[in-house]
Parts: sequence; structure tokens; C-alpha cells
Amino acid sequence: MAPHPAHPTQDVVTSRREGSVFVITIDHPPVNALGVAVRQGLMAAIEAAEQDPEVQAVLVLGAGRHFIAGADIREFGKPPQPPLLTDVCNRIEACTKPVVAAVQGSALGGGLEVVLAAHYRLALPGAKFALPEVTLGLLPGAGGTQRAPRLMGVEAALDLMLDGKPIGARQAQALGLVDRWVDGTDPVQAGLAYARELAASGAPVRPTRDLRIAVADMPAASQALDAARASLNKKYRGLFSPARIIDAVQAVLDRPFDEGLRLERDYFRQCLDTPQRQALIHTFFAEREAAKVPEAGRAQPRPLDRVGIVGGGTMGAGIAVAMLDAGLPVTMIERDEPSLERGRANVAKVYDSLVKRGRLDAAERDRRLGMWSGATDYQALADADLVVEAVFEDMAVKSAVFAELDRACKPGAVLASNTSYLDIDQLAKTVSRPQDVIGLHFFSPANIMKLLEIVVPDQVADDVVATGFALARRLKKVAVRAGVCDGFIGNRILAVYRLAADYMLADGASPYQIDQAVRGFGFPMGPFQVADLAGGDIGWAARKRRAPTRDPNLRYVPIADRLCERGWFGQKTGRGWYLYPEGGRAGQEDPEVLAIMDEERRKAGAAPRAFTQEDIMRRYMAAMINEAANVVHQGIALRPLDVDVAMLYGFGFPRYRGGPLHYADHVGLDVVLADIRAFAAEDPHFWKPSPLLVELVEQGRHFNDLNQSKQG
Ligand code: 3HC
Ligand code: NAI
Repeated sequence: MAPHPAHPTQDVVTSRREGSVFVITIDHPPVNALGVAVRQGLMAAIEAAEQDPEVQAVLVLGAGRHFIAGADIREFGKPPQPPLLTDVCNRIEACTKPVVAAVQGSALGGGLEVVLAAHYRLALPGAKFALPEVTLGLLPGAGGTQRAPRLMGVEAALDLMLDGKPIGARQAQALGLVDRWVDGTDPVQAGLAYARELAASGAPVRPTRDLRIAVADMPAASQALDAARASLNKKYRGLFSPARIIDAVQAVLDRPFDEGLRLERDYFRQCLDTPQRQALIHTFFAEREAAKVPEAGRAQPRPLDRVGIVGGGTMGAGIAVAMLDAGLPVTMIERDEPSLERGRANVAKVYDSLVKRGRLDAAERDRRLGMWSGATDYQALADADLVVEAVFEDMAVKSAVFAELDRACKPGAVLASNTSYLDIDQLAKTVSRPQDVIGLHFFSPANIMKLLEIVVPDQVADDVVATGFALARRLKKVAVRAGVCDGFIGNRILAVYRLAADYMLADGASPYQIDQAVRGFGFPMGPFQVADLAGGDIGWAARKRRAPTRDPNLRYVPIADRLCERGWFGQKTGRGWYLYPEGGRAGQEDPEVLAIMDEERRKAGAAPRAFTQEDIMRRYMAAMINEAANVVHQGIALRPLDVDVAMLYGFGFPRYRGGPLHYADHVGLDVVLADIRAFAAEDPHFWKPSPLLVELVEQGRHFNDLNQSKQG
């Protein structure tokens, strides 16, 4: 039958009648977020369906790739505009004609709440369902906390809300979240067929609010709530919204539906007002914005089907796994056959461990390893589209490798270095095609860590930078553009706040106190635990290498050297800053380390003083923020948000604090600057206020004011 003319709703929501079925389509690219116009459109469309006597069933659909990706995140923090989503959902549920939601793509957050408010639910293959509000510092605020447990049980609903991760169509059906799963690609056809069937059979409306948790299921539900509460401190340390989620779900057992909804609304508002919500939403947008760089706006990525990797050590092997996991065949070059065999074994070891832990099946391991090949002759890289060099951190070694690549690789191949610190401009000058040379700085373990710094030398072509960002997307990594300098963004900032930690050590704090304060702030580990994990020998070698060029005005703290001289390199040697008896990974405090520190302080003539946790964090953060400001000021990072993203995804900065420069805005730049000036009175060589920080304070501006989009 020919569709009826469109009802006069907002453009973003269109509706038409197909026989007895009223079809409502949300068409608000890119992801059908539920902004005010969509909410108004939905409300009007349901009203129209209600009024039309010919209508016997209503079908709600999303146009494009997704059903609905949730509330419009950009509206949070602004005055709410009616109708609220919770009222829209209530209106859908109150419709006197059966409402079907047909889901293709993602139904997330408020999108899933619309699904929960519908009376019948249909999923197509590839449909994804999630309540990810927790990842934004929120809880489902449109009835999700009250409807999801009624439909799928308290335990499964809590998992969905506390994890924030998506589940697929089959699992959603098994959990009772959807009624029907259909094979097919067209939500309109599948939805219409279901709605017609319901209309023909006179199917009743089924308001989710009317469902009750069965008395027999009450004990299990209470247990699930208790277990979730018990996990709060461990799994959700420092976070505000998870406890509110649990309390809201508790209301499903204790209170009538409308009271539960009011409570949910109340908690939602509380969450909206927290700095955590602001930080997490900053992070959501920053992560996406970081990929928008001028070069990627000006050029298309080069084709990328085959990858070469030179070096099969810690990084080369990890990078190989990351590529293989993304379906990219890898050819690895090593300096000789035994090293190549070690490289292959390093790659296999990662996969074997996944198989052993049940994370990957053996056939899949073999398939991925089957895409790996190795050689000692660079000719094997003749058809590679991109090569990542991950050999020793030594300019002479790397230049020799690049000379080989220059000879063997086809024209247009991207030549990348994974160097941590070396000058990529200099490296680019050693080849005949500097426009193809770029830095791709992975972090260890490279197959796991999300951050990829894309280091942009002077002469690099735009499409090579675009290729770096396209690769990051393919590897599911978060890419940040960085300029060339010693340590790029992350390692350069790390070097400075590490120094601040060393100075506190020299002045009286213990490594255990510092680690505890840093963990208390929300980092997963403190700097001395990290040093023990990475191996003290690495930092020691770097300190020796840099000794001739060290700034003589900067204090040097030799305590770490004293540990290394004893062979205490950390976990791998059973002791470092901590003791690791019998190869354990949980360190114990070591009185001998404290004695060595006392001895060094005595030799330096320093009288130790007491540091509170707050003293420690003020210095640690002031050092981090100040160097981060320098990195932005010097154009090494495009914007403050790029620094935030690098520290969040490469250095364990707590997500709910939004990165060092978002955090600085929150604390107040004047406060940070005053701290730096106070510390400078003790040590003016180390504590030099960044010109950008001073300028922003003088102008009464924030780092966030510099966070404009940079896409060309
Ligand atoms: N609100 C506003 N904008 C959104 C959005 C949302 N909910 N979700 C995505 N966008 C924007 C992105 O910022 C991006 O904009 P840009 O092109 O200008 O950078 C664009 O949509 C495309 O997004 P992605 O680049 O992320 O596209 P993908 O295809 O990779 O991913 C997605 C799509 C899986 C839907 C992903 O965007 C996503 O996870 N979105 C957020 C989902 C979410 O957290 N929803 C819950 C919101 S809170 C809520 O609903 C509260 C309710 O309970 C009251
Ligand atoms: P590694 O010592 O574990 O591995 C280096 C590998 O390169 C060895 O397998 C060696 O045989 C091979 N190699 C050396 N010279 C070669 C040559 N001429 N041709 C072919 N292969 C050669 O070192 P790692 O840790 O993997 O570091 C590699 C690079 O990655 C360095 O530039 C380092 O700075 C950088 N990096 C290291 C990180 C880490 O955490 N280890 C993190 C990020 C970057």
C-alpha cells in the first residue's frame, strides 16, 4: 500500500502510515541522538498515532546505521528543554496502541530507554544494546534504572548499567531484553511485518512498568545488589555514579514505579552536577576531536594492506600483534636468524597466553600467526604499504635501518619510527623521501595500550599523517598528533613530573607515600611501582646517556642509581623500590630502601621534612600541568585536549578527572600558578611557570578556551 503523506512533525522525526501501522522514523544524523527536536518530534508523532483511528500499531525506527545513540551529550550542563526524555518514554509506554521498537545498529543509553518503554522489541543482526551512562559519570535517566531490571532481572540489568558495555542481539534476546531476533537487513520490512502481526492478532499493550519482580526472584535480586555494593570500592574506586545506579535499582524492589522514577531523576541531576560528569564528557569529545587534525582534513589516507615491522623485541612484537589483530598481514625483519626466531616467539607468546587464559581459541591464534612472516632481507618489504621501525633506541642503528628501507620499499610506502625520544626530523633527512617519514609512537604493551602518538616531522606529506590516523582507527587506538621534541607529548611531560617525585623523595617523602597519594588521586599505579614494573635498568641507562648534557642547575637525585648499582631493577629482579618475594607482583615496602634514602639525604645535607598526601599531589600535578602547558605553548600538542587524551590513554591519568589540563581548569589556573610560584621560591631552576599558564591567568581564561577544532 502507498504510504500516507507525512505528518507535520519536526524534520528529524518523520512519520507515515503504512496500512494500520504508524511508522515513526528518527532521522537525525550522525547517530540519531535524542536532542530537543527529536524529543519534540517523538512526542508529537506518538500523539498523532494515538489520534489516528486507522492506526492499530506503532513502529519506531532509526534511520541510518544506528537506532539511537542516546541523549544528546552536548545538551548536558545546559538548562534542560522540555519535553524531558523521561516524559517521552512515559508517553510511549502509555500509548494505547502497541508500540514496536525495531533496532538495527546501536540502541544506547536513552536510545535503549526508548526501546524499554516500547511494548514489543525486535532486533536485527548487528544490533547492539548498552546503557553506557556510567562512562559519562551518569546513570540512565529516562526510566532505564526502573525498566531494565523489570524486563531482564536485577542482576543482568545491574551488569548492563555498571559495565556500560554493549551486548548483541542474541544475548539481548536470551536476557529477555528483546522479544524477537530476525535475520535480515531492513528494519522497516522486519518491523512492519512484526507490527502487522501484532495488529492482526489484537496483541495488547505491555507497559514495562507493570511488570513485577517475582517474589521467588527477590532473594537473588537482593544478593545481586549486595554484591554490586561490595564491588564499589574495588571496581569503581573514586566514581560517584555507580553507587547511585545501585540505589536507583534498589527502588525496583522497594518502591512503586513512579517513586523509583523520581528517585532516578534526583540521582541523575546529582550526577549531572559533578565535576566527574564534566570530565568524562570532556574526555568523550576530546578523544574524537584529537583525530581531527589539519593534515587529515586536507588529504586522504594512502592504501594500507600490508605492513612491515623492523625489530621483533618488546615493541616490535607488540606492534605486530596489534596489526595482526586488526587483520593486517605483517612481515617482520630482524638482524639475523636467531633474532628473527626470537621475534616470532615473542609474537607467539602473546597469543599463547591469550589462548591459555581462554581469551582466544587456538584456531584463531593459528589464523593470526599465519598472517605473520619473517625475513632478514629487506627485499621482503618490497610490497609493504607501511613499515614501522622498532629497533634499538640509537640514531646510528635507526639511520642504517632507514637507509635499507629507502632502498627496498616501494615508492609511496610510509616509513615510520617507533622511537621514544629521538629526533625524527633528523631521521627523515637521512632518506631520499623525507615526505614519507613519520613517527608512530606506540606504548608498551603495544597490542593493549590505547594511545598512539603520531609524530609529525617538518617535511612529512599530509596523506602520510592521514594514513597514521587511519591506521590508529583500524587498530582501535586513540591517536594524538605530536610535534617533534625530546619525548614528544607524553614522555616529555612524564620526565618532568617524575623529577618532581624524585625531589620529594630527596626532601623527605617515601616512595610508598608518593605511590599511595598518586593512587589515591586515581592513577592505577604510583611512579615507583611503574618504575619497578618497567625495570629500573631502562631509566638508569637513559640517565647515564644523558649525563653529559644534563642541565647543571637542575638538582640530581641519585637514589634510584643507588638501587640500580645493587642490581635492584624492580619486579624482574625480585626487588627495586619494593620487595617482591618469590617472584610475586605485589610489592612490599623495603626498610633497606628507606635506609639508603636516609643515607643519601644525610650526604646531601638535607633535613627531611614531612609531606602530606595533599602536598605530594599539589607538586606532582603542578609539575605535570606546567610542562603540559609548555607542550601546548610550543605547538608540540595542537591543543590542551590533545595533552589530556595522551595522558589519559598512555599514562593512566584517571578518566574521571579528564586529563591534566581539564583538571587544571577545574582546580583554577590561578591556584596552580600560585603553587608553582611558591615552589619556585625553593627551587627556581625546576619550577619555572609556563608562559602559557601565566598568560591564561592574566587574561582570566582557561585551557578549554584553546580547544577549538583544528580540522582543515
Ligand atoms: N550525543 C551527541 N553527539 C554524539 C553522541 C551523543 N549521544 N554520540 C555520538 N555523537 C557524535 C560524536 O561526537 C561524533 O561527532 P563528530 O563527528 O562531530 O566528532 C559523531 O556523533 C559520530 O560518533 P563516533 O565518531 O563515535 O561514531 P562511531 O560510529 O565510531 O560510534 C557510537 C557511534 C557507538 C554511537 C558512539 O558515538 C557512542 O558510543 N556514542 C555515545 C553513546 C552514549 O554514551 N550514549 C549515552 C548518552 S547519555 C544518555 O543517554 C542519558 C539518558 O539516560 C538520559
Ligand atoms: P628491544 O631491545 O626489546 O627490541 C629491539 C629489537 O630490535 C631487538 O629484537 C633487536 O634484535 C632488533 N634490532 C636491533 N637492531 C636491528 C637491526 N639493525 N635490524 C633489525 N633488527 C634490529 O627494544 P624495544 O623496547 O622493543 O624498543 C624498540 C624501540 O621502541 C626503541 O626505539 C624504543 O625507544 C621504542 N619504544 C620502547 C618502548 C618500551 O616500553 N620498551 C615504548 C615505546 C617505544
